[in-house]
Amino acid sequence: MKTNIVVSSCVLIFTVLFSACDTNEDLVVNVNEGDFTTILPSPPITNSKTSLTAQWTTQTIFKGKLSNVLGYQSGSILGPTMVVNSGDSIKVKLKNNLDEPTNIHWHGLIAPANMDGHPEDVIQPGSLFDYAFKVFQRGGLYWYHPHPDGHTAKQAYLGLAGAIIVRDAEENTLNLPSGEFEVPLVIQDKRINADYSLDYSPSMNDVMTGYMGQYITVNGVHSPYKGVKTTTYRFRILNGSNGRIYNLGFSNGATFKVIGSDGGLLETAETVSTLLLGPGERVDILMDFSSYPVGKEIFLINNQFSAGTSQGKQKFNIVKFIVDTKATENYSTPANLSIIDKIGTTISYKTRNFDISNMNMSGMSMTGMHRINNKIYDKNRIDEVVAAGSTEIWVFDNSTGDEPHPMHIHGVQFQVLDRTGGRSKLIASEKGWKDTILLLPGEKVRVIMTFSNNKGLFMLHCHNLEHEDDGMMLQFEVK
Ligand code: C2O
Ligand code: CU
Ligand code: CU
Repeated sequence: MKTNIVVSSCVLIFTVLFSACDTNEDLVVNVNEGDFTTILPSPPITNSKTSLTAQWTTQTIFKGKLSNVLGYQSGSILGPTMVVNSGDSIKVKLKNNLDEPTNIHWHGLIAPANMDGHPEDVIQPGSLFDYAFKVFQRGGLYWYHPHPDGHTAKQAYLGLAGAIIVRDAEENTLNLPSGEFEVPLVIQDKRINADYSLDYSPSMNDVMTGYMGQYITVNGVHSPYKGVKTTTYRFRILNGSNGRIYNLGFSNGATFKVIGSDGGLLETAETVSTLLLGPGERVDILMDFSSYPVGKEIFLINNQFSAGTSQGKQKFNIVKFIVDTKATENYSTPANLSIIDKIGTTISYKTRNFDISNMNMSGMSMTGMHRINNKIYDKNRIDEVVAAGSTEIWVFDNSTGDEPHPMHIHGVQFQVLDRTGGRSKLIASEKGWKDTILLLPGEKVRVIMTFSNNKGLFMLHCHNLEHEDDGMMLQFEVK
């Protein structure tokens, strides 16, 4: 079989690869930009009660070409955006029309363990499952995607993912830009075959770096543009890529305001000109187009950055905004957005350390190159046991690592205490509630959280999905 051939040739070039990691240029997947002449679509909106069918379908990702993709509905690579009020119950009927098991994980939402999409809790081909749970979250941008053991990366990459916008009373009083001025941007990167179908065939290199595509898509299409008015827009950005980190900014160097992160609004807006967003992370930003003349074109771009072997080598455009209409309204950002009660470190019951440096190469095989505390995921092993409702500090330690790892914890939102090594500070989007935290090589991060009373098994993993499927995942029991 094809996989075997790939694996055995990898054995032969194994040593070569490790030296190539140091020089690295050959690991960069260069981005091919298009002409930015396709209108930016928005996935359809649905409420908290819907039916999804995981299936093969087609979508126009590239102008004039149909691509074979996976979708949760016919004709669309991304599932509908669920708009839910905090307090609503999510009721989703999932039908599996794939020829392999799948399930749904509600990334960032705090769901009971049996609704959380545990990797072993899967829906067999041809079967149905009813997800039902109450959403208690703060307003924010969350998302849903499959989580079956060993197949998460492929299924998410081929198109199974969708956004969830949770609204709450606090946010509703702020009058943030809404309607046409609130725009979700799901950023992903794809590789394609000659027939424009999506290509998912990770080599050993790709498992090392994460599978990076050379075509950047936004809301499922490559090279889109959006007409904007001379006013402030709220962009709800999800990095839905498997392995690619983006250093977001605007082509003219314009500043923008970061108002929220994974778990909702920050206390106050912070003005920045670039922002690093790892796979699985979300950021809520305000961009003010009011000073630009009609006709002005500004791109959301990826700026170069330094993050180890293969990331950040290239600057490229993501989506083009064309200022097309004068608007009179003058928006001003509220001075206070929210109140974030700091979890005191004195109430922490326990500190746990997670070594994610992966420097121990001994006993390494072709799979399981990515580990946490030198362990690869084992469904039969419970790695940590935490008391329901207790507060803990978890330390992710990448100090001797040479790859970036966006670390994600299920069933909880955490606060980031500090980062030492590397960037040695928290960035704007890390000053609120988070469920995914990016560690660049050399960094160590401490997060603090209070677990919910949902008992059962939850996951802790790297959200570089190739790393996750390679075994960089542990399970913990809330008990
Ligand atoms: Cu979005 Cu366990 O992941
Ligand atoms: Cu998750
Ligand atoms: Cu990783």
